[in-house]
Amino acid sequence: MEDKLPNEGFPKVAQSTPACVQVEEGKTYAWCTCGLSEKQPFCDGKHKQIEGMPYASLKVTFEKTQEVWLCQCKKTKNPPYCDGSHNQ
Ligand code: FES
Repeated sequence: MEDKLPNEGFPKVAQSTPACVQVEEGKTYAWCTCGLSEKQPFCDGKHKQIEGMPYASLKVTFEKTQEVWLCQCKKTKNPPYCDGSHNQ
């Protein structure tokens, strides 16, 4: 069994810039909230390694096919979208 990561210092800043992603109409995406995922800005399940599992992915379904800017610093107040918080 894998060791759990201590539950401190989360969410991690995965990248200090947003990711521009093409999303598809009607498709559901899982945005990483903990910052550990290696598939940023999306979840790869790594939050399960954090002690007590306080994080879960945020599921988002888009109404149209479009390019969106998704937060990777995990400090946005409008998840999963970048709101410029990475500039602070
Ligand atoms: S990347 Fe997180 S607010 Fe911009």
